[in-house]
Amino acid sequence: MGRVQDRVAIVTGSAKGMGAAIMRILAREGAHVIGGDVDEKLGEEIAAGIRAKGGDAVFLRHDVSDEASWQRIVQLAEDRFGGLHILVNNAGVLPQQSVIDELPLAQWRHTLGVDLDGVFLGCKHGVRAMKKVTAKGGPDCAIVNISSALGLVGASHCADYVAAKGGVRLLTKAVALECAEGKHRIRVNSIHPGAIDTPMIRGHVADGHRLGTSNEMIDLMIKTHPIGRLGEPSDIGNAVLFLASDEAGFITGSELAVDGGLTAQ
Ligand SMILES: NC(=O)c1ccc[n+]([C@@H]2O[C@H](COP(=O)([O-])OP(=O)(O)OC[C@H]3O[C@@H](n4cnc5c(N)ncnc54)[C@H](O)[C@@H]3O)[C@@H](O)[C@H]2O)c1
Repeated sequence: MGRVQDRVAIVTGSAKGMGAAIMRILAREGAHVIGGDVDEKLGEEIAAGIRAKGGDAVFLRHDVSDEASWQRIVQLAEDRFGGLHILVNNAGVLPQQSVIDELPLAQWRHTLGVDLDGVFLGCKHGVRAMKKVTAKGGPDCAIVNISSALGLVGASHCADYVAAKGGVRLLTKAVALECAEGKHRIRVNSIHPGAIDTPMIRGHVADGHRLGTSNEMIDLMIKTHPIGRLGEPSDIGNAVLFLASDEAGFITGSELAVDGGLTAQ
């Protein structure tokens, strides 16, 4: 038996980075996994790779900032697998760095639209579907929201990202309390990654950075993490697996830093 055997999971942003790792780990532990992403080609490839290894995974093009897209992906979970038990709100964008007095309103709205509205819509439609499961006597359900270390502490030159990720932190607690008080058996927690070695971070340093070259930036990031390395996508996947499983049955509304000690300093 896997640790999430026969649970039905949706993972957003599943085409690469952490989302792909989360898909693989949940599938390895027995879940039926639906991946959603705006990148259809890579999203399909990740799901096909899981199926080739005997896991159960499907992909659907999904834009987290679009409510109709949420209705479609939740419907797929219900029609194909009979309901939704696990939702991982992982999709996100890392915007161009900018000082606040030059940050374009369009960029602010795009960042908040994906990184915060996307999690709100996921919680809304996820909770709606999960209430149906638990009301029928199904297993406990879990939502895991991927925030950031920058949802716990501030940082310069990325007010939009920090505002979105900080919003995810408290949105998580609000939804967790509603679900707990309503006795809905839906747990809701946030994960706060430090620098994780994914296309997002590699793209960020390759874009040219005010603090130095790509290699200098990676070295600087490693130095700020007391454990002395970047995180791996599987570090986040393993934390998601725990929070999504019944092993975390008494954990809701919590914030788990998976950041090599970054925010402990
Ligand atoms: N990598 C890090 O160091 C780091 C640190 C802290 C938090 N995070 C957060 O972790 C999450 C995953 O990051 P990652 O590093 O794997 O990023 P990534 O860029 O490598 O992958 C993100 C995925 O999200 C998808 N995506 C973007 N916009 C979308 C949308 N509107 N709808 C659906 N999918 C969309 C992308 O196509 C991509 O496949 C993000 O929320 C990110 O903010 C990352």
